[in-house]
Amino acid sequence: MYTPSQSPPTFVSVDLNALAQNLAHVRRLAPRSEVLAVVKANAYGHGALELTRTLQHLAVHRFGVATVDEGIALRQAGIHDPILVMGATVPAQFAELVAQRLTPVLYRTDLIPAFAAHVRSGSSPYPVHVKVETGMGRLGVSPHEVLDLLERTEFRAALRLEGLMTHLADADNREKDHTQSQLARFQSALDRLQQRGLTIPLVHAANSAGIIKYPTSLYSLVRPGIMLYGYHTLSTDTPTPELRPILSWKATIAHLHSIQVGDSVSYNRTFIAARRSKIAVLPVGYADGYNRLLSNRGVVLIGGQRAPVVGRVCMDMTMVDVTDVPGVQIGQEAILIGQQGQERITAADLAAWQQTIPYDVLCAIGQRVPRHHLPLRSDDGTSSPKT
Ligand SMILES: Cc1ncc(COP(=O)(O)O)c(C=O)c1O
Repeated sequence: MYTPSQSPPTFVSVDLNALAQNLAHVRRLAPRSEVLAVVKANAYGHGALELTRTLQHLAVHRFGVATVDEGIALRQAGIHDPILVMGATVPAQFAELVAQRLTPVLYRTDLIPAFAAHVRSGSSPYPVHVKVETGMGRLGVSPHEVLDLLERTEFRAALRLEGLMTHLADADNREKDHTQSQLARFQSALDRLQQRGLTIPLVHAANSAGIIKYPTSLYSLVRPGIMLYGYHTLSTDTPTPELRPILSWKATIAHLHSIQVGDSVSYNRTFIAARRSKIAVLPVGYADGYNRLLSNRGVVLIGGQRAPVVGRVCMDMTMVDVTDVPGVQIGQEAILIGQQGQERITAADLAAWQQTIPYDVLCAIGQRVPRHHLPLRSDDGTSSPKT
């Protein structure tokens, strides 16, 4: 762990023990399903490689990314487990995808011959997943097209249907109708294949909201993302597990100064002091992912107290009013996301202040913010793995 004297100006710490607890909730809710951990977008900003290695240590051996490049990065770092590329891929990426033994999601009929052409003739059938569009309005073949697609000569010659999947658009909503109709459409596609005698090793529909709220969405595989990281976006009246946010984001106070009544702070003078004020400058800004919409709206924790953001968030700096916080010092820690004393700020709070969702807040934390991973404590009290 960083100590204040050696802390970088701003950094993130990720508690891998909390990740283990969140994973335990997934397993409790979906006891009969294998887990594919969604680690796309740098594991929602948490550090894809470190999280993937930890999840392997926790007996997860299937991972989901959005792009071929994300899959390649994991392969190059020595991750040999199956990696599903869930986003949109184009035929120009297929050669590399096959070379790296990544698993594609095929979501359009014309991708079948294009992909099959890259599988070496004579080699064993290449595992693929097929996505069925049931109401997300995004990628996928329609339920009645699936059988035709699987019966195409190119499919039968070179490919093996390892997985059939769909994606839920509205499972975190209070209303259930759309999700239930998506699941019914998916089930009808599945029934048709099963009536033809096809067995499909991996059938999957559930994201985090599905895992938490829809037992009927739990097929042989589940695809949790956000709940592993400690969040959900379900309504407050939905029973939810006690997830623990695994990420904290800190900054070290770089400068302190006093301003007089009428003095302004930051670009365009959107904050004018109504009293003599003490202002702390934090070395973190919108280029680090601390969104400019937090200008005059965000709050940080300093000395266990809440301190409001004043003036515009700049590219590399943010100012906060610490007039009411006693004894503030340069070098002291400010919490952007996390707990200090009795107070807590979550990515969901930031999301509310900037009118978005916690996913967006977490994914936006910039590349230049170092991530430190607090290692897993194993049962015998030793730490592992080292990250
Ligand atoms: C295809 C697919 N499956 C699963 C997930 C994980 O969703 P969540 O983070 O809501 O659990 C995502 C994320 O957007 C996704 O695109």
